[in-house]
Amino acid sequence: MSTHKIRTKVGIIGAGPAGLFLSELLSRQGIDSVIIESRSREDIEGTIRAGVLEQWTVDLMNQLGVGERMMREGHFHTGITLRFKGQSHHLDMEDLTGGKKVTVYAQHEVIKDLVGHRLAHGAVIHFGVKDVALAGIDTDRPSIRFAQADGTPALLDCDFIAGCDGFHGPSRQAIPLAQRKEFQKIYPYGWLGILTEAPPSHHELIYARHDRGFALLSMRSPEIQRLYIQCDPKDDIALWSDARIWSELHQRLETVDGWKLTEGPIIQKGIIAMRSFVCETMRHGRLFLAGDAAHIVPPTGAKGLNLAVADVLVLSRALEKFYAKGDTSDLDGYAATALARIWKGERFSWYMTTMLHTDDAASPFEHRIREADLDYVVSSRAAATALAENYVGLPI
Ligand code: FAD
Ligand code: PHB
Repeated sequence: MSTHKIRTKVGIIGAGPAGLFLSELLSRQGIDSVIIESRSREDIEGTIRAGVLEQWTVDLMNQLGVGERMMREGHFHTGITLRFKGQSHHLDMEDLTGGKKVTVYAQHEVIKDLVGHRLAHGAVIHFGVKDVALAGIDTDRPSIRFAQADGTPALLDCDFIAGCDGFHGPSRQAIPLAQRKEFQKIYPYGWLGILTEAPPSHHELIYARHDRGFALLSMRSPEIQRLYIQCDPKDDIALWSDARIWSELHQRLETVDGWKLTEGPIIQKGIIAMRSFVCETMRHGRLFLAGDAAHIVPPTGAKGLNLAVADVLVLSRALEKFYAKGDTSDLDGYAATALARIWKGERFSWYMTTMLHTDDAASPFEHRIREADLDYVVSSRAAATALAENYVGLPI
């Protein structure tokens, strides 16, 4: 079978938020790109993941002309509720941050909006590719070999490769191990997430710390709730009957004033493990890593998707400068610029996770410190402001 040869400026591996936003941002500057994605369009548009968008991500969607459905169907909250010791505490993010909101709009809806928009504007996205291999990343003519969905071998020649292929993709692995500087923390917590056909029990997100473990109430639509409970990351989902899930949710979310959680049929459930990870080597020759390919956060801070978009905003500006002026300075500074913000996202995600989860291995002293941390946040405007400005998104 003869090889299908393709030429583009930026070869993008992965059609997650990082890859799709990058392709959209580059197209605005007249920089052509080709995306290759190992999964099918249906699969990426149906995978349930993140829910919360930072204010600037919302603004960017609108600026790019892909925010129309989000503005119609998204949930815009003034704040979040922190719940502990059976008491609710409202954090008014809008007031604390000078007008920024908490937007709940599912990641797969963002993906649908971006894929639809990119394809309508003539973008090339190869779905269902296999055997992706990067070559020549140390040269100024890198390339990506892959097999198209129908098996035809393909060779994508480019000026740059953007590795937007998530934590398990091949891009980071293409950087020699000896050159990679990596940092990792594995948490002893997992999240069991469910989707349930029941109207949201509360008008905003509830983050609850309880002796039995963390719980989170979120939503997807006026008819669907998204709920999470802390569990053992190695738990078998088969051991979690619907009755057991509801029992834990009721106990962990209940309040002294009799607030009620609305139940409904559980239509999806799964367990995710949690880690913090940063690969500080985000560039090797002509390969640039962005999003989960370079860093992972535990989901408690709702940062992962937003950090991925922030990376590609920085990268797109650097590429724009290169193509407009032949100036490589921002490409050279890409990792340093991106990492300054990434580490703050890592810190905040670690902080929220540590404060809100219960850890059997933690000492009674550490438990009291976590409770004091929560108490401080709900009793000091300065502490609440620090949490709020991180949650709605630090300046980019
Ligand atoms: P991905 O979304 O992982 O995209 C990478 C893409 O590359 C995938 O489509 C994959 O199929 C593709 N790929 C992989 N290998 C190859 C290959 N060999 N060839 C071609 N393509 C390949 N973040 C938030 O900001 N807010 C939240 O509220 C939030 N909640 C979360 C809740 C859960 C339960 C989970 C699991 C995550 C959550 N996150 C949240 C994190 C967020 O989902 C990720 O950080 C985000 O998806 C990262 O985007 P990305 O484009 O970097 O990577
Ligand atoms: C979600 O709705 O999926 C969600 C919300 C907040 C988080 C994480 C996930 O911190």
